[in-house]
Amino acid sequence: MLKPSASPLNTLSKTSPERAAARKASLLDRLKDARSALYASPGFQTFCSGFWPTRFVARSKAAGVFDLCAGFVYSQILFACVRLELLPVLKVQSLTLREIANHCGLPQDGAARLVKGAAALGILEARSGGRYGLGSVGAAVLGNPGLQGMIAHHDHLYSDMTDPAALLENRSKSTALAQYWIYSPSPSDMDADRAVKETYSNLMRDTQLAVAAEVLRAYSFARHERLLDVGGGDGTFLRMAAEDAPGLDLSLFELPAVAELAQERLEDAGISADVHAGNMFEEDWPDGADLITLIRVCLDHDDDRVATLLSRARKALKPGGVLLIGEPMADSPKVGDAYFGFYLWAMGSGRARTSSEIRQMLDQAGFSETRVLKTGLPDLVRVIRAS
Ligand SMILES: C[S@@+](CC[C@H](N)C(=O)[O-])C[C@H]1O[C@@H](n2cnc3c(N)ncnc32)[C@H](O)[C@@H]1O
Repeated sequence: MLKPSASPLNTLSKTSPERAAARKASLLDRLKDARSALYASPGFQTFCSGFWPTRFVARSKAAGVFDLCAGFVYSQILFACVRLELLPVLKVQSLTLREIANHCGLPQDGAARLVKGAAALGILEARSGGRYGLGSVGAAVLGNPGLQGMIAHHDHLYSDMTDPAALLENRSKSTALAQYWIYSPSPSDMDADRAVKETYSNLMRDTQLAVAAEVLRAYSFARHERLLDVGGGDGTFLRMAAEDAPGLDLSLFELPAVAELAQERLEDAGISADVHAGNMFEEDWPDGADLITLIRVCLDHDDDRVATLLSRARKALKPGGVLLIGEPMADSPKVGDAYFGFYLWAMGSGRARTSSEIRQMLDQAGFSETRVLKTGLPDLVRVIRAS
């Protein structure tokens, strides 16, 4: 249960450095405090909602606050639609409530509650004759298999976040997400290790399509000779890079169980690549690449570990070579600080960084030139080029 330990005012002594800093608040800070005090006043809220020039703003602020309070319920409705595989059947044809109830294995009143909630959120949509079809939100989700995979695995995150304060108290606590993303090799049980890694690798494969398309659009791989994708999962990124730049020599570095999976999947796709199995923090990376990619790798790890990755990348790169880092960054605060902030906390390591934080770390690792490349979907992935 969430329970504040003491009044926040009581926790600051009158002489504390925090109090001293508060006294030095800038004019802008004071204006912000005054605005917040005004918004927090019930009298002001009643006045704004009744006064026509401010009514529109008051309504939209109230709707925003309501959406924030109800967000967890909205997410669970979407989660239920994905989990019950409702979207694919409604793509084929619209269905009556009875048919939906049958498909979902729910009583009709339960199905009706789900369908109405989903229709209110644009996931489903009413059709004539009491039938329901896909709404615009449901259609967009259905068109993105990676997104469906992300939604489906969110049960781990939701269970970890039932008591967010308890979660924040102790990061090393065992969580459902930490069990899902097991990066430490467990040689005692290689089969289990492979099964666990296959689960997250399949999720990464499905979400990789949109990410890789953005990275490959942001930077021309064709100008390079040899690519090393570190933490490259099951090789999906390499497969897409090979289509984009057919002359490129390909190599991948992964944990043993994932490397084995990548080897099989690359061979099945008829793609020749050198697959190296190992621990990217502890072993030297294969040299000879003039392009190294770290796609959605750095954000999983804490700063000291990322510093190790960056210096290993610099050591492995051919002179004049390029390192590309592609991942969601905290320049989009809702994505970086809110979503990934909590996701990665629950996972037990890593954080989303701003592009300037990453550039600073690259600087410290000895890269002399760093640049942020434009991507079409910056909330999904931003790219930094370093040489
Ligand atoms: C979030 S996934 C990203 C995979 C892929 N780059 C993508 O974007 O789909 C992180 C990857 O890093 C790999 N990884 C984690 N720790 C590693 C280590 N110590 N050595 C090598 N690879 C590691 C994981 O197995 C996983 O495939």
